[in-house]
This record gives sequence, C-alpha cells and structure tokens, in this order.
Amino acid sequence: SSNAMWGGRFASGPDAIMEEINASIDFDRRLYDEDIAGSKAHAAMLADQGIISAEDASQIIAGLEDIRAEIADGCFTFSREREDIHMNVEARLAELIGPAAGRLHTARSRNDQVAVDFRLHVKAAFGALAEALEAFIDALLDKAEAHADTVMPGFTHLQVAQPVTFGHHCLAYVEMAARDLSRCRDAITRLDECPLGAAALAGTGFAIDRHQTAAALGFREPTRNSLDSVSDRDFALEFLSVAAICGTHLSRLAEEIVIWSTPQFGFVRLSDAFSTGSSIMPQKKNPDAAELVRAKPGRINGALISLLTVMKGLPLSYSKDMQEDKEQVFDAIDSLALALAAATGMVRDMAIDEQAMRRAAGHGFSTATDLADWLVRELGLPFREAHHVTGRAVALAEERGVGLEDLPLDLLQTLEARITDAVYSVLGVDASVNSRTSFGGTAPANVRAQIAYWRDRLGGK
Ligand code: ARG
Repeated sequence: SSNAMWGGRFASGPDAIMEEINASIDFDRRLYDEDIAGSKAHAAMLADQGIISAEDASQIIAGLEDIRAEIADGCFTFSREREDIHMNVEARLAELIGPAAGRLHTARSRNDQVAVDFRLHVKAAFGALAEALEAFIDALLDKAEAHADTVMPGFTHLQVAQPVTFGHHCLAYVEMAARDLSRCRDAITRLDECPLGAAALAGTGFAIDRHQTAAALGFREPTRNSLDSVSDRDFALEFLSVAAICGTHLSRLAEEIVIWSTPQFGFVRLSDAFSTGSSIMPQKKNPDAAELVRAKPGRINGALISLLTVMKGLPLSYSKDMQEDKEQVFDAIDSLALALAAATGMVRDMAIDEQAMRRAAGHGFSTATDLADWLVRELGLPFREAHHVTGRAVALAEERGVGLEDLPLDLLQTLEARITDAVYSVLGVDASVNSRTSFGGTAPANVRAQIAYWRDRLGGK
C-alpha cells in the first residue's frame, strides 16, 4: 500500500529492502519521550498563535499523553512500516483522536523534529554523565582522604620513579574527571538552543513562536539559522568527544587496577562484588569489571569516528545519512554510563594493602632523587654532579643487593667525602613524600588541602 504520510505523491509502497534500510524505529523509539514533549510544546504554541484551534490542541495533547503512557507501559505496537518514532507517534495519534491529529505537523518537519528530539536526549545524557562523574569524584575523594599518608611507588615508564602518596594518585584521577565534568557543562551551553520551528530547512510562513517552544522544552533560546538547525550534529559529536576522553581516563584507571590487583603487585584487593572467578582455575579472582572498563573506549571511540565520518562532506541541509547518527551515540551513552558506574564501584570497594604499597615504594632506589637533592642543598653540589654521585651510589647498592639507606657511611664518603650521616634522614619513603610540598606535589599535607579544595568546589558546584 502507499504511504499514509506521503501517499498523495506515490502510486505504490516501498520495496521490502527499502523499508528495511529506511526504518529507524528499532532504535529511535528510544526518543519517544522527547518526541512527545516536542509535539506537545509545538501543539500548544500553534494554538496560542491561533494557527490551530484550542480544541484541536487539547485533543492532540491528551492523545500524546495517552501514547506516552502506552509506550511506557510497553503496550504500544511499533511499526516498521511507519518508519520512525515521529511517524509511529503521529499515526497512532490519528487512530486515537481522528482528523485533529493531521494538524499537529503544521509548520513542522521531521527534520526539525528529529533535531529537537536528539538534542533533548543528548542534553539529558550530558546531565546524567555530569552526575555520574560527581559520584565518581566523590568516591575518589573518599579514597584519597583515607590514604593521604599511604606511600606507594610513583612510576614513569611503569618503572619505579619516586615515592608518592596513594591519595595523590587518586587526586590525579579527580583532576581528569573534573575536566570531563567541565567539558560536559561547557558543551551543554552550546547545545542549549532549540531547533524546533526550522521546519524542513527554510523556516515557515506560519506565525510560530520559537521562543515559546524553546522555553517550554527547557532550552535557553531558539537556534538562529534554520539551515544549520536541521544540519547540525555538533552536539552529538561533542558528546562523543567528551565520552571518548572520559572513557580514556577510565581505561587508564582500569589498567592500573588490573596491574595493582595482580599478586605480583598486590596493592589492591578488589571486592567480590567487582570480580569474577574462573570456571577451571579455582584460585582465580579476575578483575573483569576493570578489563571491561578498559575495553569500552573501543566502542566509544568507534562511535566518534563513525559519526564524524557520516557528517564529513555532507551538503546542507538534512540528508538521510544523518539517521545514522543515533545508534552509536546511544551505545556510547550506555557504555560510558556503565563504565563510570563500574569504576565508581571498584574505587569505593577496593581494599588497599598499605604494607605492600609501602614495601614496593622502598624498592628500586626510589629515593635516589632525594639523595641527589640533599647533595645539592647541603653540600652545594651542582645538580648534574649530584646526579652523577647518586648514580654511583645506586650502582654500589645494586651490586650489593641492598637499598640506598643500607650503604655504610664510609662507602658513601668514597663517592663524596663531605657526606655526613644526616643524609640517611632523606632516604626513607616517608621523608621523601613529606618533603614534596611544592604546589601540586605529593606531600600528605598537600593532598589534604587539595581534597578540601575539591570538596568545596564541587559542593558549591
Ligand atoms: N528518522 C529520521 C532521522 O532519524 C527522521 C528525519 C527524517 N526526515 C526526512 N526528511 N526523511 O533522521
């Protein structure tokens, strides 16, 4: 049969393959709430402007409410023949209220309709992401507070570098998550314009009030250019960009958790709630959640590249290519939400083995820099010379299989005669971290000050 929406122009219906490639209802049904909100705002505005009667508008709005309930209750029959969420809702509206339903689409197109639905959805996703980030930051701050003094090895190249505090390490992730949060807020300010009323591409001759619909839908203002309104998917690209960066941060934490939870490191013990066993090896406790958090960027980064590729080179204004914008964004929204929830849970639950961290912090000559700094500060050696003397001390210690702090004073004095036994006070890991009081450094006092800074900033939003 020919189409109910555009049957006037068409003699026959679509080929089965046409219907299959064209239909988006299987995924854009996720936008039903936004679609109905957009339609209600539009109908109310049309009535206020005298474009449709108040009677028709109230029938339309009541019908849309019924449809929302049907969909929410799972008793709505979605039809591929009706292509997408917009036409499924409108066709059902006609079944429910009759001819008045045909007035809803006055001064509107599916092009501005889908743009407003998708924007609302992505706006909500940014809001949910911001909330999830706040919960993640909160979990990190709690861990940082509990471990402001816990000493662990800091790494570069995954080789022991200098002792740091675990609290400081947690706060590094707070910084990342806080930047992600600020990217969300920043992106929302650009997204917060309503494309409804752009119609197909050129605007409309009807005396619509776009400021009214924008306000009704919670947007700051209407978009300014009708062509851009139906062509723009920057807001979705920005979501995916933010998601890709955030997913990258989470994957780095996940990788550290995987490493830290190996028996070889033994820094953290994951809770049973965030681990799995093996079907064959009874002793195993695997960090599957961390591994999946580490893997999610595969999908999220794929979605970003996918949508960039769809949009690249598209002529203005709307093209059906743009229907390919949704599935991957939905997948990225869900993947990131899950990854963040899992990361937050793991951080909250994981038990820290302070002894193992401390022991590891003392290995690998991690206080060699402190020795060099002491030679500079106390004996006035140029840093390069101090570096050389310390390097020789490390070589001696390595040869004997001991730590720097175990080298006897007379041996150290063969390297530099003026060394006194005061040097031993800087060779311990606690002295090392306590000395790192430069702004942004790892000293416990700094960690506490930074925690207070973040609690204050986030508490005040
Ligand atoms: N399902 C379409 C999409 O997701 C809605 C817009 C269709 N517009 C059109 N002119 N065919 O993009």
